[in-house]
Amino acid sequence: MSTIAEKFAELARKNAEAEQGGGAKRIENQHQKGKLTARERIGLLMDEGSFEEIGKFVMHRSRDFGLDREHYLGDGVVTGYGTVAGRLVYVFAQDFTVFGGALSETHAEKICRLMDLALKNGAPLIGLNDSGGARIQEGVVSLAGYADIFYRNTLASGVVPQFSAVMGPCAGGAVYSPAITDFILMVENTSYMFVTGPNVVKTVTNEEVTFEELGGASTHSHKSGVAHFSCENEVVAIQYLKQLLSYVPQNCEEEAPRVPYEAGNEKRPALNTLIPENANQPYDIKEVIEAVADEGTFFEVHKNFGENIVVGFARLAGRSIGIVANQPAVLAGVLDIKASEKAARFVRFCDCFNIPLLVFEDVPGFLPGTDQEWNGIIKNGAKLLYAFCEATVPRITVITRKAYGGAYDVMNSKHIGADMNYAWPSAEIAVMGAKGASEIIFKREIAAAEDPEAALAEKVADYTEKFANPYRAAFRGYIDEVILPEETREKLIRGFAMLENKVDTRPRRKHGNIPL
Ligand code: COA
Repeated sequence: MSTIAEKFAELARKNAEAEQGGGAKRIENQHQKGKLTARERIGLLMDEGSFEEIGKFVMHRSRDFGLDREHYLGDGVVTGYGTVAGRLVYVFAQDFTVFGGALSETHAEKICRLMDLALKNGAPLIGLNDSGGARIQEGVVSLAGYADIFYRNTLASGVVPQFSAVMGPCAGGAVYSPAITDFILMVENTSYMFVTGPNVVKTVTNEEVTFEELGGASTHSHKSGVAHFSCENEVVAIQYLKQLLSYVPQNCEEEAPRVPYEAGNEKRPALNTLIPENANQPYDIKEVIEAVADEGTFFEVHKNFGENIVVGFARLAGRSIGIVANQPAVLAGVLDIKASEKAARFVRFCDCFNIPLLVFEDVPGFLPGTDQEWNGIIKNGAKLLYAFCEATVPRITVITRKAYGGAYDVMNSKHIGADMNYAWPSAEIAVMGAKGASEIIFKREIAAAEDPEAALAEKVADYTEKFANPYRAAFRGYIDEVILPEETREKLIRGFAMLENKVDTRPRRKHGNIPL
């Protein structure tokens, strides 16, 4: 019989063993690859001393392929809860030093237990992924474990915010858990995500591609849009996670935390000279965002993907808001497939989690062409339209310049449920640009004129005079107020304060059928 003191010592030994994961050699390998261990990552993320581990001594139950002789306490994933900036979060971190972080039946059970707790207690769930995928020795029970996780990711979607930081391999079916979560962060050069790796790609399609090219952080943040953030290293990734958390509420019933704000001079005169005289010249919409938001609070999401639209979080008078803005500096701010998908997903996130939406609009329309049509700009553009239509959070639009055609409707117009629409005097709210419009409606007159060019110029001037302004829309009340650019911040602070207790509902149904 052991004494109590010996029993205490055994506990200490077991704790130390669990904390060693796959052992010193594998930890060293992990460090050599420029990666931190699961516990080091959790240490960086959580408030000091706040982490409480759950299931530290869990072991796998597998007996095949020699696994009955190889056990590690914790079974390749560290799970638990604690606080970030004083707020409760649940976190799991896969431990690559144990079977390459591969997911076993019990490893999955630990994650599921955490997800159940997050869902029942209404707090964000953070996954730090670093795994060789399904534990090959376990076969189908490991696949069942993934499915259990996907199912819970879906149940939690829109209930608690879910974040995935991919900090190593994430391949095969494993990618679908992060894919369902709200935001994916990837670390440059040390993480990758793909459904099938370079070897299988070579066999099936004969393409030669590296891990990094196929599914690295750069690929997914620029090309596929799978990753919302590409981070230089793991420390930056964790920093981004903390920033993201600061803008979102604990769950769908709550509001995002506010930071104290002292009213001051809200005029921003620099905005008065931002719009170029020539309507075809670009300017950077981020300058508008930076000037209007509380200083230094704009946090861009999906920075390198679909850059013709800008989305991100900011604070306005201390309150978290989501911003969607056409970017005239890239492709003239046109809406294309990538931009529509990117913005639609962001709008839906904000709406799930009670984050008011602010839209800056300068859009010449949808991008024409076979590439766009054949790849489905119709259904993809419809996603953004649908996302705005169904959003019930406070919604304000500021039209800075062009609001042309169907894109005017889509970009959070009053007609689809926006609460307030403001326009700057430089706004042009019309079916299309004056030249295109004149060429169509005065086609015969222009062709018959002695000097067609002069005739066109005259018609363009006429159309511009009539429609290239915000007043036609303001006469009808589609625009609530035409404001000077310098007044924008003040108007928005007041507008969102006025909408603070907004209650809006949608017809009862099982769920809508957003075009996918
Ligand atoms: N199941 C069980 N063990 C796994 C595993 C898996 N899916 N993936 C990796 N491991 C183990 C390895 O056997 C190795 O064990 P060891 O420490 O006892 O030697 C350890 O994890 C590290 O793997 P290793 O291959 O040495 O690391 P790496 O950095 O060179 O390569 C991967 C990482 C993920 C590319 C590689 O391990 C791999 O291809 N794994 C299989 C991926 C896969 O096909 N998964 C199943 C489909 S979802």
